[in-house]
Amino acid sequence: MRLLLLLLLAFTVANTHKILVYNLKFAHSHSNFLGNIADILEDAGHDVTTLIPEVGTTIKDGSTKAKVIRIPPNPEAAAVLEKMNTGEIDVLQFSELNPLVAYMMSREVGTMFYKQCETTLDSKIYEKLQKEKFDVYMVETFDICGMLLAHLIKPRSIIKTSTTILLGEQFDELGVPLPLSYNPSPLTRSLDVHSITSRLWNLYAEHVNRFMFSNIRRRVPTIFKRRFGEDFPTLQEITANVSYVFTNSEPLIDFAAPTLNRVIDIGGLGAKEPKKLDEYWSSVLTRRPKTVLISLGSMAKSYLLQPTVKAAFVKVCTTFPSVTFIWKYEKKDEFALGDAAKIENLVLTDWMPQNDILNHPNLAVFITHGGMGSVQELTLRGKPAILIPIFGDQPRNAAMIEHNKLGKVLSKLEVGNAEKMIGLLKELMENPVYAQNSARVSRMLAKKPFSSKEKLLKYVDFAAEFGPSSALRPQSVDMTFIEYHNLDIIFVGLILSAAISYLLLYTVLYLAKRIMLGKVKNE
Ligand SMILES: *[C@@H]1O[C@H](CO)[C@@H](O)[C@H](O)[C@H]1NC(C)=O
Repeated sequence: MRLLLLLLLAFTVANTHKILVYNLKFAHSHSNFLGNIADILEDAGHDVTTLIPEVGTTIKDGSTKAKVIRIPPNPEAAAVLEKMNTGEIDVLQFSELNPLVAYMMSREVGTMFYKQCETTLDSKIYEKLQKEKFDVYMVETFDICGMLLAHLIKPRSIIKTSTTILLGEQFDELGVPLPLSYNPSPLTRSLDVHSITSRLWNLYAEHVNRFMFSNIRRRVPTIFKRRFGEDFPTLQEITANVSYVFTNSEPLIDFAAPTLNRVIDIGGLGAKEPKKLDEYWSSVLTRRPKTVLISLGSMAKSYLLQPTVKAAFVKVCTTFPSVTFIWKYEKKDEFALGDAAKIENLVLTDWMPQNDILNHPNLAVFITHGGMGSVQELTLRGKPAILIPIFGDQPRNAAMIEHNKLGKVLSKLEVGNAEKMIGLLKELMENPVYAQNSARVSRMLAKKPFSSKEKLLKYVDFAAEFGPSSALRPQSVDMTFIEYHNLDIIFVGLILSAAISYLLLYTVLYLAKRIMLGKVKNE
């Protein structure tokens, strides 16, 4: 028995790796996803450190088990985040495809990431981290700084880790093909592949999305070049050499599209196991036979909604008196204490155990902004949804749910339209197809042949032991645009066929002339 224990211990120790997780604190969903990964790895016996540049100090770390190195917030970066959180930038009023909004967001978010990156580099933390000789460095390329830091930290393996799907240029950097004729851009909330206008919109949406990240992508690398020399590798060069890419995608609900062997989907890892509801929430959920949960996420605050939109939600509640509505509403303001308080079947709350509520049998429909975390939770718990995408990857997440007949999409510009929302809610509650499909997907997710957690642990182990594999790195990342698209061959081919056509035409004309001339002579 003792021998067995010793053997077991030796086995765990032999598999312990030093792992660094870069977890920029700017949005709850990102911190939650990366923090949860850090905790899963720590639980598995690894030595995990999280590097947290704290733009938003009020956001939770996401991890409770790993060691933490904090970088203080850059005041300008923190000010931008504050501006977004207080609704000074009203994201609900504009279409997600409005190029002016994209420009504004690009500048604001660009400043936030750029400034924070300077503070992170000022701390010279990379010198200390390089000495640590990490086996694996897990990093999200949302703010770019973390990925460029990889070149200074020099881990054995870099694992690019995305809280969402791959975005924009990341496809090119990794060598993953992106067929925009049938793979919706993050900003596309519905794509009809047989419609020329719909596909055109998708192309346009992809460009707006890339434009949104253009400011960050242009500015952040300049900091590194300024400090470490002009020959500091580009983002493309560093990203092309990662060992693996983890995405928060779930193939059982995502759009099927080409990928690579080094892209590993670990969707749903941010979702915790559901717990039993406490007495209060349990009593709310059993007040009426059905409950609808409304939450627009942590970035779009419900109390900042236009009065007409709030009135529309109230109308929806009064239309379904036998349904209890729970609405995530952050403030006890005039509306909360006035109009909303008069509605008997409406419960306002600034916090609720979302994942556990979704697991309750009485929960009929989830009205959500469609953040990746919420989309994963609603599919894991098997609940139909109305999605009101606001920005980021939310439009595509919503399209994913509608495509799988697990719910319906409502444009954020139409939330004030009570009739429309009532219609959708009726459809989802009365047509059994949605509940059936949702239950089926939930069962499939529970029985996946390889769980996301299993994949995470095995691929991290593998990357820690062997480093990047050149076989997994497609040659496309070293090719020029012309080579990749065979434009040289097409060009030479066109010239050759033009020359041949010319020669043929010339010969035919020449022969025709000779024959005609011969005929004329003979006459
Ligand atoms: C990436 O990998 C290639 C091929 O293995 C190597 O030549 C190059 O120096 C690497 N670049 C960086 C930035 O690590």
